[in-house]
Amino acid sequence: MYGLVKTRRFTKTSVTTSVFAGFAIALSGTAIAAERPFGLGTLATAEQIAGWDIDVRPDGKGAPIGSGTAADGEEVYAELCAGCHGDFGEGVDRWPILAGGLGSLVTADPVKTVGSYWPYASTVYDYVYRAMPFGEAQSLTHDETYQVVAYILNMSDVIDDEFVLSNKTIGSVKMPNQSGFMLPDPRPDGQLASAPCMQTCEVSTKIIGRARIIDVTPDKQ
Ligand code: HEC
Repeated sequence: MYGLVKTRRFTKTSVTTSVFAGFAIALSGTAIAAERPFGLGTLATAEQIAGWDIDVRPDGKGAPIGSGTAADGEEVYAELCAGCHGDFGEGVDRWPILAGGLGSLVTADPVKTVGSYWPYASTVYDYVYRAMPFGEAQSLTHDETYQVVAYILNMSDVIDDEFVLSNKTIGSVKMPNQSGFMLPDPRPDGQLASAPCMQTCEVSTKIIGRARIIDVTPDKQ
């Protein structure tokens, strides 16, 4: 009887149900566990889901409706981004550089920027809309995001001043380093959900450089 009383916590309130449930748990705990109501949370509304569903994929899937050119983006960039990233994407003080570095990835001192390193325009859209301006994330409208992303891509000569970056064109933009990534992604957490590697995952490792060479690691005292 002790066991039955204890199960009341997990079942509906009436004593009859709890006695029944307790009996059933003794026979088949899992069946009851799956059916018991938790009474927690509410169903997410379509609007709430849309608020989280903001990823944009390389081919443009998920890109919200909107558009903008680099020419339009100059003002937004100057007002909201240049204070940290510099008028020409050169980075103020230690804030990140956004442009330049083309061709530097194969050197001992690679400069990784949106232009030199990032694989897809969609990555830039996704990141900027999700995370920038730093401290004011998700305050940009979709049109402002297209404008400012067009401006950043234009700083690295990926698109020209008049190119209309939009949900329709973003998947067609070819970034300089698009083919510089290993596909399929060999990292265990990048495996396809249909065939994830769960044990003894063989990821070949070849060290091709050391940060020490570019002198960013302080010497041991
Ligand atoms: C207050 C300073 C600040 C402002 C303003 C700001 N950013 Fe940033 N930005 C940062 C910092 C810091 C990072 C790096 C964040 C991190 O790595 O977590 C960053 C990273 C980025 C990156 C990725 C750079 C890379 O190669 O990793 C992009 C693109 C970017 N910002 C675009 C923008 C745009 C567009 C705006 C204006 C709408 C903006 N930022 C405004 C500070 C700022």
